[in-house]
Amino acid sequence: MTGAVPEFEIVVRGGHPDFLDIPWATPLAEWDDARLVPMAHGISRHVVRVVRHDRRVYAIKETAEGAAEAEHRALRALWDVPLPVVEPVGLVHTRPAGGAARLITRYLDFSLPYWYVIGREAPTPADVLLDAAVVLLVRLHLAGVFWGDCSPSNILFRRDAGAMMAYLVDAETTEIRPSIGDALRAHDVEIAHENLVGGALHHAGTTGSGRCGELVTVSPTLVRRPLDPPRAPLLLPCVRRRARRLRRGGDG
Ligand SMILES: Nc1ncnc2c1ncn2[C@@H]1O[C@H](COP(=O)(O)OP(=O)(O)OP(=O)(O)O)[C@@H](O)[C@H]1O
Ligand SMILES: [Mg+2]
Repeated sequence: MTGAVPEFEIVVRGGHPDFLDIPWATPLAEWDDARLVPMAHGISRHVVRVVRHDRRVYAIKETAEGAAEAEHRALRALWDVPLPVVEPVGLVHTRPAGGAARLITRYLDFSLPYWYVIGREAPTPADVLLDAAVVLLVRLHLAGVFWGDCSPSNILFRRDAGAMMAYLVDAETTEIRPSIGDALRAHDVEIAHENLVGGALHHAGTTGSGRCGELVTVSPTLVRRPLDPPRAPLLLPCVRRRARRLRRGGDG
């Protein structure tokens, strides 16, 4: 309908602002709103902006309507388990339907993308990040979740009580089943391996940082060791031991 002013349908979980004062009619990339907060974030296909509201901070992602709905549904299911994922807060639809939608999540306070943790903090050893990523993947698999896109940019890292924790930030490709079999789990591990190594090489290439080399060296362990539930707790010390041996120059 030419000239029709788009309307918006905002659905927000209780306990959060109504977001009515946000300029929804403007594409997210063009926002110049007083609520915007500049935050470090990972590589993304979609525009993600961060806004402050009532002393809380929220991430807003602009994506296709179907994708936003599916991701919102997946995040709600994962959050309710509970699993370490970003908190889904709401969805904003354009009316009439078919335009871009926006997914609102609670910004994970104190979280950092991997390139920041590797590059800026007091160096965090790559195997600490890898351990955290493995714990997240194992927890998802134990809960019957196939991720399909485990990658450095889809994980947020945060120190919780001194330990590095990994959180899933991008649930677009997740599939939630009663349980997942060996083939699917192996496929997910393969994807994680490829993305983690690819991400590390990309980071090393763009920053000249040698630190990611460690991650590349250690990551084959992730693929060689089956992540079956009974052995999962054993895996993490194995990864750590192997990393230590590799750093000392042994063959692991
Ligand atoms: N709730 C959140 N808290 C902190 N950071 C966030 C949050 N949501 C998104 N981000 C940041 O924005 C980046 C991009 O988000 P996301 O991965 O969901 O987008 P995308 O890659 O475009 O999505 P998709 O892979 O579905 O196309 C993340 O790497 C993360 O740094
Ligand atoms: Mg992503």
